[in-house]
Amino acid sequence: MERTLIIIKPDAMQRGLAGEIIKRFEQRGLKIIGMKLLRLSRQLAEKHYDVHRERPFFGGLVDYIISAPVVVMAREGSDAVLAARATIGATKPAEAAAGTIRGDFALEIGRNLVHGSDSVENGVIEVANFFSADELCGGWSRDVDGWVFE
Ligand code: RTP
Ligand code: MG
Repeated sequence: MERTLIIIKPDAMQRGLAGEIIKRFEQRGLKIIGMKLLRLSRQLAEKHYDVHRERPFFGGLVDYIISAPVVVMAREGSDAVLAARATIGATKPAEAAAGTIRGDFALEIGRNLVHGSDSVENGVIEVANFFSADELCGGWSRDVDGWVFE
């Protein structure tokens, strides 16, 4: 079972798109195991984007992601990482397909609305970086009627 961390970034919060973005993951059938509103510390933001530390956009990216509260969600399922990235769309919104979150609502790479883990390994690491074990509720499953909690 894969895990993926979704962040509804400050630009999405500012534009009132949190509900729309949550709805799309819900519709896609990705099981929710955690969700909360928080403002990232600089330390957590730098850790989260550590892979980009040497890139010219790193400073601006960190400044931006900590500029306002964000909604973070942990989602779980087989192929959850790939499915979430497909729902989000390409990094560069101008290249994102219509029907994806970025393809429908974004145009600028620095304001691309939402983060999703980029590998199975990073999904596990990122969910653990943002959620303690007692903040995760994994009891959801799906039957013919929809979601059931056991
Ligand atoms: P994210 O990590 O936020 O989900 O986005 P991603 O995987 O689609 O893209 P990634 O390559 O990990 O880049 C992280 C974020 O950095 C910003 N970026 N700016 N100016 C640029 O050339 C540039 N390249 C990347 C984007 O906001 C991207 O989401
Ligand atoms: Mg990324």
